[in-house]
Amino acid sequence: MPRHAGEGRRIDSPAGPPHFVITFFGNRSLAVQDAEAQGVEHGRGALEMAAKSLLARESAIYEARRPLSRTAWNAGKDKSAGFYAGVPLHWMTDWPMPFPMVLRYAQGARLEDIDGHGLVDLCLGDSAAMFGHAPAPVAAALAARAAGGLSAMLPTQDSDIVGRLLSERFGLPFWQVATTASDANRFALRVARALTGRKVLLVFDGCYHGAVDDTLVDLRDGRTVTRPSLLGQAVDLSATTRSIPFNDIDALEAALAPGDVAVVIAEPVMTNCSMIQPQPGFHAALRRLTRAAGTLLLIDETHTLSSGLGGYCAVHGLEPDIFVAGKAVAGGVPAAVWGFTADIAARLDTVRAASPGGHSGIGTTLSGSALQLACLRACLEEVMTHDAYGRMTAGAERIAAGLEASIREIGLPWHVTRVGARLEIVLRRQPLRNAVDARAAASHAIEAALHLALLNRGYLVTPFHNMVLVSPCLSPEQADGFVEAFADAAASLAAEAGSI
Ligand SMILES: Cc1ncc(COP(=O)(O)O)c(C=O)c1O
Repeated sequence: MPRHAGEGRRIDSPAGPPHFVITFFGNRSLAVQDAEAQGVEHGRGALEMAAKSLLARESAIYEARRPLSRTAWNAGKDKSAGFYAGVPLHWMTDWPMPFPMVLRYAQGARLEDIDGHGLVDLCLGDSAAMFGHAPAPVAAALAARAAGGLSAMLPTQDSDIVGRLLSERFGLPFWQVATTASDANRFALRVARALTGRKVLLVFDGCYHGAVDDTLVDLRDGRTVTRPSLLGQAVDLSATTRSIPFNDIDALEAALAPGDVAVVIAEPVMTNCSMIQPQPGFHAALRRLTRAAGTLLLIDETHTLSSGLGGYCAVHGLEPDIFVAGKAVAGGVPAAVWGFTADIAARLDTVRAASPGGHSGIGTTLSGSALQLACLRACLEEVMTHDAYGRMTAGAERIAAGLEASIREIGLPWHVTRVGARLEIVLRRQPLRNAVDARAAASHAIEAALHLALLNRGYLVTPFHNMVLVSPCLSPEQADGFVEAFADAAASLAAEAGSI
């Protein structure tokens, strides 16, 4: 599920009062000055006002077209029992539409709702369906395994094959399976602390690594604080987690200097706070400084698997100690993998041998199941292929070029950035360096209006910051259609802003 809903939402797509919400064009409030200092342009106030009226118009269109989804929503909402908030997971009400669209089916790059509207899917379940919905080899593996037993807490004949495939694909020798990427991160962090005997974790401001308590902190005025949106948080996370700005090598050096950091957990490109690319030399410094400090490096590739075969680490030659990937890795069936070096494996042997036995804090009953192994195998062998990545990257390049051209033609102060098949429309001209830049550039009003305008034109993008993900199933015609829909929506936004 989207990191920006629930836990991450207030960070990624400010709906509330943070300093970057600007109200009136020409009113140079402190908020406007703050945003301008971060590179957000003068016309933002007018664009935001225009976005609010665009959102109202698009919401009305959405509602009028979806009587069945609306009836389902009202029935769910008004019930005195059943799903809380009317949906199986409350995040589903955080999308910008007036009520959730009820899905009938999803196949390849397309989905259809119960009102009969077909959509081209560029959200892809926030990456779970990165390689397209319902890939045939995974569906076949699933059916075969369902007939032969889904979960017995025993390895199957797929185990050896999948272990070898993971090593070949991602370059690390040893692997374990979890059920979600959140779990994989949690287990890997636990191991890092156990091996180093250190308590502190280092994260980058604006990060999201799943529902992993230890990572859910923010950097505010130079201090690490527990993320205010967390429900029921009992301990002050800043006691054992340190947050620093991405791309800040001096801050990294200072944070590692006390020698108490067990592990740095990082996305190689930050994708959960708009999209923040690493500056040249940043990853080399991260590796050099962590090694010098005796700190482990965990690279979370759950989203950056979009980079190409083997993920960002393979494409860019990074050398993590621990690697995590989830969501799409078994074609959308709940599974995640975490891999590590031979050195980590040897140290883990020592630590486990010295432990009294019993619960390790690593596990969950359904992890490593026959079902997961079968689907991991099908995905690695037949779905997540060189050829699939070729089509994904070509589609994303085509879309990025089209979006950039529209943005220039319309004269919007925005740009597009990309990690392989995943791209992001950033609402300022210059690249983002860190989460402070990302928060200043974000606009809930503009993002929501664009999202709904694109949906009404037949294209579903990821909610909140409108991340676009290209599956191998997307045709060049669909890619061009998306660019046209964006140009149309953005032009009407700009025209309305110009008349304010
Ligand atoms: C980078 C990253 N890691 C881990 C996760 C957690 O994935 P899951 O929600 O499947 O546990 C997410 C979720 O969005 C993510 O973006």
